[in-house]
Amino acid sequence: MMTDTRDALIDAARDAASRAYAPYSGFHVGAALLLKNGDVVTGANVENASYGLTLCAETTAVAKIANEGWIGELVEVAIVGGRPEGDTLIGSDPVNPCGRCRQILNEAAERSKTDILVHCASGDGGAVATYRLSELLPAAFGPKDLGMIPD
Ligand code: THU
Repeated sequence: MMTDTRDALIDAARDAASRAYAPYSGFHVGAALLLKNGDVVTGANVENASYGLTLCAETTAVAKIANEGWIGELVEVAIVGGRPEGDTLIGSDPVNPCGRCRQILNEAAERSKTDILVHCASGDGGAVATYRLSELLPAAFGPKDLGMIPD
């Protein structure tokens, strides 16, 4: 893994977090997906007055690549989250993807035949934890369990 690639992806996720719609939690999350061709696709969380309907950042980002026809192959993901203060995000602990997002990332990862890297960054940028998706979601259920990789 190249650190400059990682840091650029984290910066893209941080920029995406500035477009979060999170009036209820006040917790802004950005996700950046790196595709094999070098393209970066981002997403941010979208909350709802019916709280349980909230869309996470990783979900909105994966929806974008899916809706474009599953463009590219996913190789790395960065996630950043925290409470906004001015132009920065407050928070010193890495933000790990929630369980649902791990599963949603797994769909894109299996389609890409890649055990993707997941960089989890803190809001203040001081901490980054990097995992393979298989560490975050061991023994995953996915398209391979249905005997297929959908087109
Ligand atoms: N959130 C994400 O966007 N991604 C995650 O993986 C964890 C949680 C969002 C959902 C909600 O808008 C806010 O963080 C607080 O839970």
